[in-house]
Amino acid sequence: MMEITDWRFRYFMRLINRDVRLYTEMVVAHAIVRGDYKRLLKFDTSEHPVVLQLGGNNAQILSEAAKLGEDFGYDAIDLNCGCPSGRVESGEFGVTLMREEELVAEIISRMHSRLKIPVSVKCRIGITGEESEEKLIRFVKKVKDAGASRVTIHARTATLGGVARKGNANINIQGLSPKENREIPPLNYNLVYRVKKLFPNFSIEINGGVKTKDAIESHLQNVDRVMLGRLAHENPFFFSDGRLSRKEILEAVASFAEANGNGGISAARFFTNMLNLFHSLPGARKIRRFLSEEGRHLSPIEAIRKLQNAAGVILE
Ligand SMILES: Cc1cc2nc3c(=O)[nH]c(=O)nc-3n(C[C@H](O)[C@H](O)[C@H](O)COP(=O)(O)O)c2cc1C
Repeated sequence: MMEITDWRFRYFMRLINRDVRLYTEMVVAHAIVRGDYKRLLKFDTSEHPVVLQLGGNNAQILSEAAKLGEDFGYDAIDLNCGCPSGRVESGEFGVTLMREEELVAEIISRMHSRLKIPVSVKCRIGITGEESEEKLIRFVKKVKDAGASRVTIHARTATLGGVARKGNANINIQGLSPKENREIPPLNYNLVYRVKKLFPNFSIEINGGVKTKDAIESHLQNVDRVMLGRLAHENPFFFSDGRLSRKEILEAVASFAEANGNGGISAARFFTNMLNLFHSLPGARKIRRFLSEEGRHLSPIEAIRKLQNAAGVILE
């Protein structure tokens, strides 16, 4: 998730759960190939298994970026075919690639023949106004035949601005913001289940709106895997495997910050995306306030040392 699953957050999630598969933010392939790829690809070895998600539409550049990712040590490469943001839409990648199944197949096939690690795709069930079950099935088949190891399907359409095609007719559609695009188009899990039935030997992962252990269990009756997005940010401790307490997690993250030259950045910045660790616990608001306000003047490690007294709550 952009602006969330950076290396700090992934390190934090790995402390919470040792088994989940972690994904980077979408990184634009051009930026990796042309820019400071060491900074963009930075991750800690504790993060494994960790997947590098790429954005782009140029098969050559994407395969170069993917190769750099492989050489850097990532466990798999994922191609973003689901992001609906305006920036991505005008750059014609993200979900707009669902209109270009031949191109997606070429991208996957190039990556697959060049890399040893698995390559996957994350998509939506379609683009609002253009969606159809046949198209989704065709898209999944193309991706699979091109060599992808799995597809993750966010079970709602993406509503883009502008004109969409439905049969022979053009229809005008009011675009939605990325946030609205994660909430407004209705979820259609059954469609994903039906697609899975057609590809029994191909790994299909479902995503979108999954918030409880029961929901995970019930999806797993129908698909191979479940991807959770916002819940990791909203309630990271949901993922706890019981090894470490919240206190131990924060202490370990703060020591990691220190060891990684992040002792100099403020606790407020460092912990920005981790403040929901105390989600729904008594004292959670005090802790959040302490870290985000007092934390502006403290290093991560100083903040954790002072937190217990200052926030007046017992950290466990
Ligand atoms: C802030 C934010 C950033 C996101 N960035 C990405 C991204 O970079 N790549 C991607 O595939 N999906 C991205 N997503 C979408 C999520 O991966 C997921 O598909 C979506 O939120 C629905 O799943 P959920 O209901 O479990 O959150 C992002 C979502 C949020 C909230």
